[in-house]
Amino acid sequence: MNQLDVVLGLQWGDEGKGKVVDLLTPNYKVIARFQGGPNAGHSLVFDGDSFVLHTVPSGIFREESMNIIGNGVVIDPVILMEEIEAIEKKAGDISKKLIISKRAHLILPTHRMLDAASEAAKGKSKIGSTLKGIGPTYMDKTGRNGLRIGDIVSGEFEARYNALKEKHLGLLSQYDFQFDITEYEAKWMAAVEKLKRFEFIESELVVNAELQKGTAILAEGAQGSMLDIDFGTYPFVTSSNTMTAGVCTGLGVAPNRVGKVMGIFKAYCTRVGSGPFPTELFDNDGEELRRIGHEFGATTGRPRRCGWLDMVALKYAIMMNGVTELIMMKADVMNDFPTIKACVAYKLNGKELDYFPFEAGDEVEPVYKEFPGWKCDITKVRKYEDFPAELKDYVSWIEAETSCPVKIISVGPDRKEIVIR
Ligand code: GDP
Ligand code: IMO
Ligand code: MG
Repeated sequence: MNQLDVVLGLQWGDEGKGKVVDLLTPNYKVIARFQGGPNAGHSLVFDGDSFVLHTVPSGIFREESMNIIGNGVVIDPVILMEEIEAIEKKAGDISKKLIISKRAHLILPTHRMLDAASEAAKGKSKIGSTLKGIGPTYMDKTGRNGLRIGDIVSGEFEARYNALKEKHLGLLSQYDFQFDITEYEAKWMAAVEKLKRFEFIESELVVNAELQKGTAILAEGAQGSMLDIDFGTYPFVTSSNTMTAGVCTGLGVAPNRVGKVMGIFKAYCTRVGSGPFPTELFDNDGEELRRIGHEFGATTGRPRRCGWLDMVALKYAIMMNGVTELIMMKADVMNDFPTIKACVAYKLNGKELDYFPFEAGDEVEPVYKEFPGWKCDITKVRKYEDFPAELKDYVSWIEAETSCPVKIISVGPDRKEIVIR
């Protein structure tokens, strides 16, 4: 029986998971998303084209791939169908290479409204949600009220939809929040109909049967470890387990079926939305990271907060994910930086901490180590030996700190801009 490999983000999302999954797909037959939903925005750049995927696995553009949306994912049919139609313009009919778990939960139009109403009511303490209805949908999942993909084809779908919608309208009436879902609801119902040309499956059976046959499977994470519902910077997190553990529940595979865990991180750090970010920069360096790295949300267009690499948070994420190899992205963004910093500890109430604490809020002060920059263009480099010494030293330091090899270094957005060791 084969084991399944995992690619996931180790920071606050947007590490470059889409690019890496697209790059690795030729080594895998099946690519599966295990959590999250349209809050994700995974960018792929190849052949002069660029795509942002939200719900569809990033293997979809490769000829031989089979792509699974697993039970742990939450689906907005409108967003999924728009995405499918955009993909099909480039790749042709994908109905034979995309399959959807019957157990995946549906995001209703009223879930989106509840997300927006809840955020508006929170005022300054809002989470900065993507407003895709993620939180309310996972709440209905754990509250055992949700509607699932498999329900679409049952005779009672409309009645169950209306019952849940009524419940939501009751909740919404408690907020001072104006909304009109008529138009979106009509689009939603039409999208549900269109979705029926895809196969709804017991994806846990398919995944395990494929592993039994020896098929290579890659699980694609969304968001990042520091947005994990349990171990992220709660309450400023998403509503799913974004870590390796989420692969087991989000696809129905046992822990001993997990093989390689490839953890992705940016050579610096970003975060979009509210919440603690100890290494955040408010100076010119932060501005430059945002400008050169085009750090604007792939889903919402919001500017991403930028800062230095946080080794304390990174080690925490590596530990809990069981990361076996690292993938470093976007070092090219710092090509012109004379000095690079990385946080090696936090100061909290006068004490130095080398671990990520429960209280990691604004009071945490980062302790930095400085590195000389490489001050040259690395985007054309394709062999590790050809990297400047300063970059190789930075990588060696990361490997020593984490006890994990850095196997892939990305030097630009394009599929081809990559150095594999
Ligand atoms: P994801 O959510 O983890 O898939 O990441 P996003 O797609 O949201 O954000 C990553 C952004 O960085 C996208 O715009 C990518 O095209 C871009 N990108 C990925 N890798 C690199 C890299 O090595 N260098 C540069 N400059 N951009 C990159
Ligand atoms: P990818 O897969 C970055 C953030 C939101 C917000 C918090 C909760 O592209 O890396 P939610 O809509 O989930 O209720 O929002 O999580 N967030 C992301 N940040 N990348 C993502 O996905 C994100 N998905 C959610 O900004 O702070
Ligand atoms: Mg993203």
